[in-house]
Amino acid sequence: MQGLYPTIWHRIGADRHFSGAAATWRLPLKKGPATTTTTLLLLFFVLVFAVIFSSSWIHSLLRRYPGRLPDLDLMFDCDDRPVIRSSDHRGPNATAPPPLFRYCGDEKTLDIVFPDWAEINIRPWDSILKEIKEGNKRIRWMKREPYAYWKGNPFVAETRKNLLTCNVSEKQDWNARLFVQDWILESQQGYQQSDLASQCTYRYKIYIEGWAWSVSEKYVLACDSETLLVKPKFYDFFIRSLQPVHHYWPIRDDDKCRSLKFAVHWGNNHKQKAQAIGRAASDFIQEDLKMDYVYDYMFHLLNEYANLLNFKPEIPEGAVEFCSETMVCNAKGLEKKFMMESLAKGPSITNPCTLPPPYEPHVLGVLLKRKTNSIKQVEEWERRYWESLDKKQ
Ligand SMILES: *[C@@H]1O[C@H](CO)[C@@H](O)[C@H](O)[C@H]1NC(C)=O
Ligand SMILES: *[C@@H]1O[C@H](CO)[C@@H](O)[C@H](O)[C@H]1NC(C)=O
Repeated sequence: MQGLYPTIWHRIGADRHFSGAAATWRLPLKKGPATTTTTLLLLFFVLVFAVIFSSSWIHSLLRRYPGRLPDLDLMFDCDDRPVIRSSDHRGPNATAPPPLFRYCGDEKTLDIVFPDWAEINIRPWDSILKEIKEGNKRIRWMKREPYAYWKGNPFVAETRKNLLTCNVSEKQDWNARLFVQDWILESQQGYQQSDLASQCTYRYKIYIEGWAWSVSEKYVLACDSETLLVKPKFYDFFIRSLQPVHHYWPIRDDDKCRSLKFAVHWGNNHKQKAQAIGRAASDFIQEDLKMDYVYDYMFHLLNEYANLLNFKPEIPEGAVEFCSETMVCNAKGLEKKFMMESLAKGPSITNPCTLPPPYEPHVLGVLLKRKTNSIKQVEEWERRYWESLDKKQ
């Protein structure tokens, strides 16, 4: 995979005009020539799993808006961490950053973030949403365990191992109930334990990144328990739309246990507000992130990207034709069932939603400022809480 980079990057990077390093793919430089039919989609994937699932969405997109996707040539990397460092593309003689698609980015990189809807044994998004909605009704918020819950694989990142130190013990109760996910055991038991719809049994659910951003994010948010979000380093395509204290409660990364303890304490003393935060995130996932909009996001992103290409995409030698049904045909069992379910059925009767104009810099500035201030506010409350406790002792 690494070996493919230079040639492809060179081809795309060298043939494009970029007017600035920071927002390249957002700039609609010029409209490409009208395209006839979609002739080409080039996707290079590392992980076979991801190939199958991700490309099934691409395929759905092609079916949904037939003839409306532009010719394009893109490079996709399924490895978790972003790699195109913005610092390498600054200064007067800087080269344009090569466009590389992946599932997450961070503040130091310029990778293009594309939605990820792939996971082990997970059903198509719309039916998951319905299931989670039903699941949310199963236990009323007030009746849920009044603690912060997390279950996952702690071995992928230091920050997760560190989180486990906040688990309840005979000596300490940080208001956290933490569990290690045992995929092997659970696969033997048919994944019942990790059934998404029945994971909403605690009032508070922790989201914490793994090696990079984690796919668990949207499931944690979709549950209408309050999300306690450990300060993330990475972002996927939607998380930056979320407001702290409105959609989630911010947790410090460098002092997790005390931060969690206070978050739960605050929530249990402001039950209406904590419930509202849980519901706001769950509504966001249900309404703003339904499959229609995810497709539209992909559609607009690919169009904006294609508009920036100023070379005509050509099919490279040795490329394998992306046949409509082959992927599905090659998949087996469960995988095949889910893929068939996930293929959008026929062309969309509606048009994609209208792409809003990019934020004016000052408007974006205000938004970011508001976020920072909310987080600072929580940290201040937290500090005072601990101060008063320490005084009592
Ligand atoms: C940019 O390129 C010019 C011309 O080659 C050179 O004189 C200048 O030193 C370079 N500037 C930097 C910052 O590398
Ligand atoms: C955390 O504590 C609970 C309750 O004692 C226990 O069941 C669970 O296994 C612990 N989790 C870890 C990761 O040790």
